[in-house]
Amino acid sequence: MTDTTDILSINNVYKVFGEQPDTAMQMLQNGAHKDEIFEKTGQTVGVFDASFSVKKGEIFVIMGLSGSGKSTMVRLLNRLIEPTSGSIKLNGKDITALGDADLLDVRRHEMSMVFQSFALMPHMSVIDNAAFGLEISGVEKKERHKRAQAALDQVGLGEHGDSYPHQLSGGMQQRVGLARALANDPTILLMDEAFSALDPLIRHEMQGELIRLQKEQSRTIVFISHDLDEAIRIGDRIAIMEGGQVVQIGTPEEIMRNPANEYVETFFKGVDVSKILKAGDIACQQSACKIQLNGSVHPFDAGGNQFAYLVDDKESLLGVVPLESIDNQASADTLLAQQLDQHASVYSDDMISDVVKTVAHSDYPVPVIERNGTFCGVISKDLMLKTLSH
Ligand SMILES: Nc1ncnc2c1ncn2[C@@H]1O[C@H](COP(=O)(O)OP(=O)(O)OP(=O)(O)O)[C@@H](O)[C@H]1O
Ligand SMILES: [Mg+2]
Repeated sequence: MTDTTDILSINNVYKVFGEQPDTAMQMLQNGAHKDEIFEKTGQTVGVFDASFSVKKGEIFVIMGLSGSGKSTMVRLLNRLIEPTSGSIKLNGKDITALGDADLLDVRRHEMSMVFQSFALMPHMSVIDNAAFGLEISGVEKKERHKRAQAALDQVGLGEHGDSYPHQLSGGMQQRVGLARALANDPTILLMDEAFSALDPLIRHEMQGELIRLQKEQSRTIVFISHDLDEAIRIGDRIAIMEGGQVVQIGTPEEIMRNPANEYVETFFKGVDVSKILKAGDIACQQSACKIQLNGSVHPFDAGGNQFAYLVDDKESLLGVVPLESIDNQASADTLLAQQLDQHASVYSDDMISDVVKTVAHSDYPVPVIERNGTFCGVISKDLMLKTLSH
């Protein structure tokens, strides 16, 4: 679960590649475009005025076309690339001001990176590969093997410690890369296209694995991808980069509903909305007749609805009542007696794609409830159709 604490904050960060960053910075301040700067000075603007923050426990995805600055951005976070200007704070500590020793410490303990290429040592066993980061940090052998074994267990490779990389499939090798990062128990995992080289099935499996790790261990993960499906599936929030700039940040749903510009819109064109929206996102868009049974029931307003939804004094859903034979003065007992024997319901965090069938087969708008039973609204067939044809 994410909380609202910002763990990493990036403020007005710039990166200019080349010998004369000052000239390029000056031109940027005067409104020049990165292409113009490159033509006139040969300097490449990698990242331009990036500001955002990452919350504790979230998967924050950075997405954009090739060359938009994603890798540069993530490498700036742990200063594998030095920013030309701006500040990067981890738990309030300014990373940009750290000396070499402290910076090394941050890379070892606070921000571990997983790359696209597996970068395993061929002559080292799987467990030694997983323990490699710890070895560099000077952790003694027994302890580092213990931690590496725990990390291998976490990624489902607990039995393969004695194997060598060439004996593993690509997906398994990437898990070793992930285990190596996890063995450091970092505050933040940085993952640059970490799953892009995997075939689709294994990739899907690894995405699931990552979501599980995040949920179970509240990992904070900054994940780079140029794949929208991947970004939507794993991202709590997505930052979209275009030409070195962060042009929009939001949940997949927020971005889809309100794309900041044409570039973002193009990205999201053709996206299956049923895989972005959750039942709770649309339930509130429909009026429903909710009747609270707290002792005496006051006359209720059916509002043209054919069904009413009974809730208790804590707003928990009790049942669904057809209204045709009930007048609006009915007592609580009458309402309870007339409710359907059984009713379907879906959870507010269910994906629309997973509730389509339930809604299609239901004779009444399907009630949507929170995991704790609280009634949030309903989804009718009509609303479902409108949503899917959006
Ligand atoms: N070391 C470097 N020297 C000069 N220019 C660089 C360097 N690294 C990156 N760039 C430039 O900075 C821009 C952003 O590159 P970056 O690698 O961050 O893009 P990306 O979004 O990660 O792309 P991809 O999806 O292809 O990995 C590009 O124009 C690239 O050519
Ligand atoms: Mg890249």
